[in-house]
Amino acid sequence: MKILAIETSCDETACAVVEDGVKELASVVASSKELHEATGGVVPEVASRKQMEFMMPVLEKTVEDYRQKMGFEGREQVVESIDALAVTVGPGLIGSLVVGVTTAKALALAWEKPLIPVNHLIGHIYANFVDSQKKVEFPAVCLLVSGGHTDLVLMRGHGEFEYLGGTLDDAAGECFDKVARMMGISKYLGGQLLSEKAAGCEKAFPDKLFPRPMIFSDDYDFSFSGLKTAVKRYIDGGERDIPCTAREFEEAVVDVLAVKTMKAVKNFRVKSLLIGGGVSANRRLRERLREEAEKVGVFLHLPPPRLCTDNAVYIASSAYFNNKKVKLQDIKADPSLGIMGRL
Ligand SMILES: Nc1ncnc2c1ncn2[C@@H]1O[C@H](COP(=O)(O)OP(=O)(O)OP(=O)(O)O)[C@@H](O)[C@H]1O
Ligand SMILES: [Mg+2]
Repeated sequence: MKILAIETSCDETACAVVEDGVKELASVVASSKELHEATGGVVPEVASRKQMEFMMPVLEKTVEDYRQKMGFEGREQVVESIDALAVTVGPGLIGSLVVGVTTAKALALAWEKPLIPVNHLIGHIYANFVDSQKKVEFPAVCLLVSGGHTDLVLMRGHGEFEYLGGTLDDAAGECFDKVARMMGISKYLGGQLLSEKAAGCEKAFPDKLFPRPMIFSDDYDFSFSGLKTAVKRYIDGGERDIPCTAREFEEAVVDVLAVKTMKAVKNFRVKSLLIGGGVSANRRLRERLREEAEKVGVFLHLPPPRLCTDNAVYIASSAYFNNKKVKLQDIKADPSLGIMGRL
C-alpha cells in the first residue's frame, strides 16, 4: 500500500510517499527556519504564509521524484499507484496546519482517494518503523523528545498507547533552544549547535554542575525549567567556558531522560525502546541509551537523524499502521491535540 503524506504542523512543509509504512519512496522537506532565526522564534503568521508558498512546489517535487523512482511515464500512473493520502491534523500552529489539511482534502477529492488523519506526535514515533534494521517488537517504551513535547508512552501495539508521563513545564527541545540562546550559540533551534559545542569540552568536572530535576521522583514526569534557570545563574555569575557549560547542561538533560526512560523499560519489561522527535537526534542521548539498553537487553531503535525532525515520511508510516476510516468532512486541523488525543 502506497501512501502520500503531507506535514505542515509548524515551519516545515513536507511531503512523502511511503510503501507499507516502512519503505521510503520519495520525501521532500522545505523549511522557513531562517526567517524565524531573525525574530528568535516562530512568528505564526510568517510560518503559515511560507507554508502557502512552499506547499505546491513541495508536493510537485515529491510527485516528480516518486514518478522517476518508479519509472512511470506520466502523472496518471502516479495517481493510480497511490492507495491513500495522509495528513498531519495536529498539534501545531493553526495557520500552518490548515494549509496541509486543506491541500490534502482537495487532493483526496480530485484523486478520489481516502484521506487518513495523523497525530504529529504519534507520527514522530513511527520514524522507528521506516527502513528499520529490525522489526519493532511489542510492547515498547517510546520516548518522545521534540521542540514542543516530552512524553513517555507505553506502546502495546499499533494504536495502543498508554501515557506514562511527560514534562510538567518546558519540553527538552525548548530547554536546549533557550539555553543555546542564553549562551549566544543560536537565536532559534540551537539544540544541535549546542551539542556540537559541548563535544569540544575536554575539562572533567568532579561533581555534577547542574541539577537533575525530578530524576528520582516516583513517576515518569520531567521538569526542565529549573535546570534552565540554574544554567542562567551560572552564566550570569561570569562563566565564560561555553563548551564545558554546554556539555554539563547536555549531561543533565540526558541523565534525566535516560534514567526515567530506563525505569519504564525495566518496570514494564518491554522488548523495544523507541525514540522520536528532534532531540532524539542528540548524539549523547543516543550514546547513553545505547549503553543502558545493552545492559538490560532491550532493543533500542535509532531513527536516522533526518527522520527525527519534522518530515512527512513518518506521517505516512503512522497512517499505514493506524488506518482508521474517517469521513473527509470530519477531518479538521486540531492545533491542541496531545499524544493521547484531544486534551
Ligand atoms: N542534536 C540535537 N540535540 C539536541 N536537540 C536537538 C538536536 N537536533 C534537534 N534538536 C532540537 O529538536 C527540536 C526540534 O524538533 P522537532 O522538529 O521534532 O520539534 P517540533 O516539531 O518543533 O515540536 P513538536 O514535534 O513537539 O511539535 C528543537 O528544539 C531542536 O533544538
Ligand atoms: Mg515535530
